[in-house]
Amino acid sequence: MSASTTTVGLAGLTLAGPVLVAAGCGGTGRELAPYLPGGDLGALGAFVTRSVTLNPRPGDHPPRVLETPSGMLHATGQPSAGLEPFLAGELPWLARSGTRVVVSIGGATLGEHAEVARRLGRAPGLAAIEVAVGGEPFHAAALVGAVARDLPRGIPVLAKLRPALGRVAEPARAVLDAGAGAVVVGGALPAALPDGRDAGLSGPAIRPVALRCVTEVRAALPDAEIVGCGGIATAADARSFLDAGAIAVQVGTALLHDPTTIARLASELATMAGEPAPRTEETP
Ligand SMILES: Cc1cc2nc3c(=O)[nH]c(=O)nc-3n(C[C@H](O)[C@H](O)[C@H](O)COP(=O)(O)O)c2cc1C
Repeated sequence: MSASTTTVGLAGLTLAGPVLVAAGCGGTGRELAPYLPGGDLGALGAFVTRSVTLNPRPGDHPPRVLETPSGMLHATGQPSAGLEPFLAGELPWLARSGTRVVVSIGGATLGEHAEVARRLGRAPGLAAIEVAVGGEPFHAAALVGAVARDLPRGIPVLAKLRPALGRVAEPARAVLDAGAGAVVVGGALPAALPDGRDAGLSGPAIRPVALRCVTEVRAALPDAEIVGCGGIATAADARSFLDAGAIAVQVGTALLHDPTTIARLASELATMAGEPAPRTEETP
């Protein structure tokens, strides 16, 4: 995939295009790269890592993912090897790949999030931090404030909001006021596995909900920088989010079904925008 001629400005960053890999859905990057023409992650808008925590976490017990009609349930419990191995191995590899690296961070407390952000901020190769925020707007704002506090200038925070219809604009305003450079609107819907464990529902089933959330945030906050996320699998899906006011989109579950989706989607989107079609090659 040759780089799109349309670069995208997001939260002060210049991205190679508007299509990003959603957190947790592109592995470490090494798994996804072979499915991109030329193995080039650099042509993507950005690669968002799975959520990295300060200390190792085992994650939840199986099953962690389950297909549903039109969607996928995941209850991963955010397995993480911890920050040190990430800094020593995954981050340098991703940085060398030429992609914009957005590190999604997780943690149990504000302090843990802040510590992960502070240490990541000193690491070469970091483009931005993404953090999922939930709960009341003031909690969301406190979390973003803690994450942003010790980051170097030029490293923005992307705040990922729950797709709560009718209640997404208020936290969006709160996190932007607290220093987030952009909001990621969509993400998995709260759901449950058949055994009753909390899970996230993703994939095509949630796309209309995510799109409505983008519309709500755009209507309430005309200047907000929005990344749409939720069930995006085709260029037409992506186009509807961009038309609703998103600057960029993230693709998650579709990659688990078919990792070649992202290259195809980016290529078709560029063609729709009237750009020369990116070069396509046989992928392994
Ligand atoms: C297997 C799996 C793992 C995920 N891991 C994370 C994660 O580590 N951090 C996070 O913020 N979101 C995570 N997500 C949520 C996705 O980033 C995305 O917000 C969500 O799946 C909705 O987009 P989609 O319908 O395109 O998948 C995960 C989703 C799946 C399916």
